[in-house]
Amino acid sequence: MAEIVFERVTKRYDDGQLAVNALDLKIADGEFLVLVGPSGCGKSTALRMIAGLEEISDGSLVIDGAIANELSPRDRNIAMVFQSYALYPHLSVAENIGFGLKVRGSDKSEIRAKVEATAKLLELSELLDRKPGRLSGGQRQRVAMGRALVRSPKAFLMDEPLSNLDARLRGQMRAEIAHLQKMTGVTTVYVTHDQVEAMTMGDRVAVMNKGVLQQLAAPRVLYDSPANLFVAGFIGSPPMNLLPGKIVATEAGYALELGELTIALDDAALDARPGIPRFAGQPIIAGIRPEALRLLGSVTPGPSRFSGTVAFVEDLGASLLVHLDLAGASVVAAGVSEDGEELSSARTRLRAVVDGALPVGKGDPICLTVDPARIHLFDAKTEQAIGA
Ligand SMILES: Nc1ncnc2c1ncn2[C@@H]1O[C@H](COP(=O)(O)OP(=O)(O)O)[C@@H](O)[C@H]1O
Ligand SMILES: [Mg+2]
Repeated sequence: MAEIVFERVTKRYDDGQLAVNALDLKIADGEFLVLVGPSGCGKSTALRMIAGLEEISDGSLVIDGAIANELSPRDRNIAMVFQSYALYPHLSVAENIGFGLKVRGSDKSEIRAKVEATAKLLELSELLDRKPGRLSGGQRQRVAMGRALVRSPKAFLMDEPLSNLDARLRGQMRAEIAHLQKMTGVTTVYVTHDQVEAMTMGDRVAVMNKGVLQQLAAPRVLYDSPANLFVAGFIGSPPMNLLPGKIVATEAGYALELGELTIALDDAALDARPGIPRFAGQPIIAGIRPEALRLLGSVTPGPSRFSGTVAFVEDLGASLLVHLDLAGASVVAAGVSEDGEELSSARTRLRAVVDGALPVGKGDPICLTVDPARIHLFDAKTEQAIGA
């Protein structure tokens, strides 16, 4: 098992494409680290540099304390784990797991011992004689991991292993892979463009955009304290509402002006983001998660209230996702979608998640409110979070 450290690692492809830009990232021994970001942000390139499949243009890759830039893939002993369907269909589970050892010429008794130990760890002992065609999706994934694990790799690398599965199986496999990683304790770097996968699986999550690491933190920290506008818009589903506005000093303290709307920033809000006074008079972007909005019984517009007309409602069962045509303020879409598509066009719809039992329907006038301490604030110029 290994610690993997990127020290200002840069990858520039021969055609000049800057895929990874001065990446600093330390992956602890035994950690499950998820690398997430929109398509084209450099995730696969970073992973392939760990495996030794991509030359490093600048900086150092350090594996277990030794610079590994020039090590051949074989000498790194790092396993790329492929999708479950990459199993050999005509071989049994035992033969699939032992395949790599056999190719390397290990002797039969050694292969058997290692296959049995691996199967035991992955709870596959009962299935060793089966062919992959007669296994469930979860069992196949375990065999795929077993095939890598049997060689005692220093680390597992996984590049979007679930992307071709249907939603239901993907959900199961998320939990399965995270569980197996905990059981085996092998350092794992898992690449995905899916922020839900990232949030549910990783001990820590590294968010990348355009080759640059945006934030490295536990999922909860990314959600509660996104470091910049990109992370704020990318993490969370449905995504955070982003509203342009400014901070103003008032007699009572500070307030947030969002178009015609004014929200007083109370002591709790100032405690949560002590940097607010420094931004008085400055343009900011306010970020409000759909689940932070609360439906008010009254529909009378007033200070600190978002009022408007319900454009449509998505009924999710336990909750309703309400799309509100907002009066007096505008909402801008977050920077980039998971597919890497730029979202620059302004929208005016505010999204709110409310209790599924509430009587909200298309065309209804409604009012929503938010606890000011739950409003995220970003410098409109630098796009960095306004925190301390
Ligand atoms: N072999 C290559 N030659 C040139 N450019 C490449 C190559 N592979 C990837 N790229 C470019 O590098 C950037 C990062 O790609 P990649 O690491 O595959 O991103 P991701 O896995 O996040 O989708 C993209 O702009 C991509 O087009
Ligand atoms: Mg990729």
